[in-house]
Amino acid sequence: MQERFDAMLGTATAAIAAAEDERALRDLEVKYLGKKGEVTALMAGMRDVAPADRPAFGQKVNALRDEVTAAIQARRGALEEAELARLCEDPTFDATLPVAAFGGSPRVGALHPLTVVSRHIEDVFRAMGFLILDYPEVETEFFNFTGLNIPPEHPARDMQDTFWLNDGNLLRTHTSTGQVRAMREYGAPLRAIFPGRVFRYESVDASHEHTFHQCEGLMVDKSVSVAQLIHSMKTLLSSIFERDVTIRLRPGYFPFVEPGFELDIQCQVCGGRGCSVCKHSGWVELLPCGLVHPNVLRHGGLDPNEWEGWAFGLGLSRLVMMKYQIEDIRHLLGGDLRFLAQFRQG
Ligand code: DAH
Repeated sequence: MQERFDAMLGTATAAIAAAEDERALRDLEVKYLGKKGEVTALMAGMRDVAPADRPAFGQKVNALRDEVTAAIQARRGALEEAELARLCEDPTFDATLPVAAFGGSPRVGALHPLTVVSRHIEDVFRAMGFLILDYPEVETEFFNFTGLNIPPEHPARDMQDTFWLNDGNLLRTHTSTGQVRAMREYGAPLRAIFPGRVFRYESVDASHEHTFHQCEGLMVDKSVSVAQLIHSMKTLLSSIFERDVTIRLRPGYFPFVEPGFELDIQCQVCGGRGCSVCKHSGWVELLPCGLVHPNVLRHGGLDPNEWEGWAFGLGLSRLVMMKYQIEDIRHLLGGDLRFLAQFRQG
């Protein structure tokens, strides 16, 4: 028996050492260690061995398998090194090229879920005739506060903890900054959305980030209504969630709208029965909105006797979390590829 084993090991190691490339090596791997391989077959032959001899037999087969495995690994390492050495000699080899050029498969990237949802929102509003506008993240106090009917010393300034810059500017605390900018830039009538990043000086936990995403919307015309606003919001949410969503409207206070509302959606994680995401209320606050305050229209250069408007400030990060059932906001900007790879499509 020992001779048979030795003979097999001898043939195997000789063949492995002579394998010229990875393909030949893989064939040998299958020949000896595969499901129907020779070493595997030896193990199956255990049946025919006398019970008393079985432990010794098993040990021998295992030792043989380990030696064949080690020989294959050693040969594979040597082949890889030889290949590298060859490439280094090759004047046409460019070490800065991606792995694909090296015979490996390139890693396929994917759009971030925030990008996917943001583009979806843009598509919905573009179809309704809205402009998609992009405004600065570093803002003046005027566009972030004063222009939105939040004068200095107004207590509402404390509702949003602000990152102030040394030069007196700030990192915008909301995308509402685009309202007065857009009115001044385009006049009325006007329909626009402004998606983007916003910043708050907050301590970070599962539902708070210092950096997150919103999408502001603004519609100004001769005569607008809350019914229009609700209809547009329902159209948007049904499209994002690909089904009819139940919403509710509550009064909400924001200095730049009058009346102001909190638009909640029924929790998409638990279907309204109550879970940790909706804090067991069945509802999630997603979309504050309202009719534009006359002072904001004035700051935008529009006469409130002539024009009316509605506005909303969609919590984009929260919407993404609802859509994909992400329970911790820190995943969104955490940069962990294992998290992001889950959103790879196709
Ligand atoms: N900018 C507000 C925030 O971030 C949200 C908001 C409320 C936006 C009401 C609006 C609105 O356009 O009408 O807290």
